Parts: sequence; C-alpha cells; structure tokens
Amino acid sequence: MRLSEAKLLEKLARLGVEPKPGTLLSKLTSLGIGGTTDLLRITKHDAIPAILDLLDEHKIPHKFLGGGSNLLVGDGELSWVVLQLAKPEPDVVLQGNLAHVDAAADLGRTVTFCAKHDLGGLEGLIGVPGTVGGALRMNAGAYGTQIGSYVQEVKVYRAAQRKIEILSGNQISFEYRHTSFAPDDMMLAVTLNLPSKPYSEIIQGIRICNEKRRASQPMGQKSAGCIFKNPPGASAGRMIDELGLKGLCVGDARVSDRHANFFVNAGRATARDMLALIADVRGRVEKAYGVKLENEVVVWSA
Ligand code: EPU
Repeated sequence: MRLSEAKLLEKLARLGVEPKPGTLLSKLTSLGIGGTTDLLRITKHDAIPAILDLLDEHKIPHKFLGGGSNLLVGDGELSWVVLQLAKPEPDVVLQGNLAHVDAAADLGRTVTFCAKHDLGGLEGLIGVPGTVGGALRMNAGAYGTQIGSYVQEVKVYRAAQRKIEILSGNQISFEYRHTSFAPDDMMLAVTLNLPSKPYSEIIQGIRICNEKRRASQPMGQKSAGCIFKNPPGASAGRMIDELGLKGLCVGDARVSDRHANFFVNAGRATARDMLALIADVRGRVEKAYGVKLENEVVVWSA
C-alpha cells in the first residue's frame, strides 16, 4: 500500500512520521519473506493515538511490526501499512530490581544487559530472536522461562479504548504462547521485576541454554522459530520428525533437517510456498495422529 495523499502525509509529518514507501518486508522478517508496503516508524509513544486516528480517518489498514521474528508475511504489494516503534536511547533503564524496557528493545541484548547488572531470571530467553514487545505480546518462552512471569507493569496502546494505558502484571493473563492482550493492542514498554543473582551464575545459565539451542535448533538459517504450538502434552517437532518429514520442501520452503518444527527459507521461498508447506504438514500430522496443529507463527496475508 502506498500513502500518497498530500494532506495525510502533511499531518503525519506533523506527528513526526515520514512513511518509507516501498519497504520490502522480507528485509524486516527473520524468514526473509514478505512483500512491499509503506513503513511508518514512530519515535514518540504519545503520538500513537493521533497517528492511528488519522489512519482510521483515511481508512488506511495497518499492522504493528515488532522484530519480525515470528511472522510470515504475504507476497507482492501488501494491502496495509506497517507501524514500527523506533528504538529509543537508552532502551533499558534499571532501578533496583526493576528493569524499565522499551518494547523496541532487542530481547537478547536486554537479557545480557540485565545480567551484567546482576539481574537474572531471563536466562532461558537468550537466543529467542525479536523485540521485547513481540516477546511480551505472545508470552515468549524457552527452557522453562516465560517472560510473563516477570512482568510488573505494561504500557500499551489499547486499540479498543483508543488510548495508552498502564496495566499491572496481574491484570494480564500470560499462558503458553498466549496473552490476554487484544490482537490490535500495541506494546510500548514493560517493567520487569527480576531476581538478583551474581553475574557469574546468570552467565552459566545462559551458556547452558545456548548450548541446548545450538544442539537442537537450526541457527543462522532463515526461520520464524517454531511454526506450530505444541499440543498439550506432546511435541509438534517430534510428531513431524516421526513422520519422516524433515527435508520436505515446497519450492525453497523446507522442513529443517535439525528440528522438524522449524521451517526454513532455504533460498527464495515465497509466502505461498511456506503456507503450502504448513498446510501439507498439518494435514499429514492430523491424518496420522488425529491432532490439528495450531500455528505459532503469525500470518499476515497480503
Ligand atoms: N524432537 C524430535 N525431533 C525434532 C524436534 C524435537 O524428536 O525434530 C524431540 C526432542 O528430542 C525432544 C522433544 O521432541 O525430546 C521436544 O523438543 P525440544 O526440546 O526441541 O522442544 P520443543 O517442544 O520442540 C519448545 C519450544 C521452543 C523452545 C524449546 C526449548 C514450542 C512450540 N517450542 O520446542 O520454542 O525453544 O521448547 O524450550 O513451544 C519457539 O517458540 O519458536 C520455539 C522454538
């Protein structure tokens, strides 16, 4: 989608936003898949309600992009624009055991920054790509840690109320890869309450998680992490592996040889290829096990 109306562009400029036309989302997603649209980078949280009112007034559909690491975006010219928070400096401020973190902060860097200041708890999340906002929205987790366990407070733009609100952790429910936020709520910042731990101990935990990840997951390849959620009491990766589907391809979309719940872009995969592979694997698992796997990856159709 291309924003071209002069009046709209003028009003956006007054709110500090200059759309970047023709942005290729394949460059902003870890899968390396996605078509083109206008990208609107937001530098001031306070401007968000006015920006969204303006887009609605002009009937411009939009989506919020975090780090693009759990996302499958459609091909070609996209029918919506993308909003993304610019990263402020600093993006993490510590106050005793509290870490005030901007949603645009990189999750891995946040984990190591807190570790250097003897704040632990997040070790399991090392190696999970993406922003803190993205991790928060879906309650990212790994190796027994989930980010929701440490949330004291969240600053969020609530789309239904059309305003920025501060929610305390106990007003939000955090479940396995799911939160009570509405799909169009936009995470702005979070305060984490982290346990004090000596740096040496945290680093040891981080090393162990890094080793486990390196041993079992494809690193350095284009992927969106796990494609499917694990069904209760089972592992989607193990089920797909047991069916002998590692290496199964549609075009350049391929079931990883290392971990069967990771689908990689082995070259020039399109969203169409990836969606066909997802549908094929889901169908085979359902046929063999009677279990319909649910997407963990978020799909934004063109
Ligand atoms: N397994 C296989 N073959 C495979 C993959 C896994 O047999 O190809 C077996 C493993 O040997 C193990 C079991 O399945 O016995 C579980 O595998 P693993 O420990 O790799 O965990 P997972 O359930 O596949 C989950 C998360 C990961 C997270 C790891 C570590 C989901 C969908 N996946 O994977 O999260 O990193 O645990 O905690 O919950 C993600 O969310 O994108 C993600 C990668």
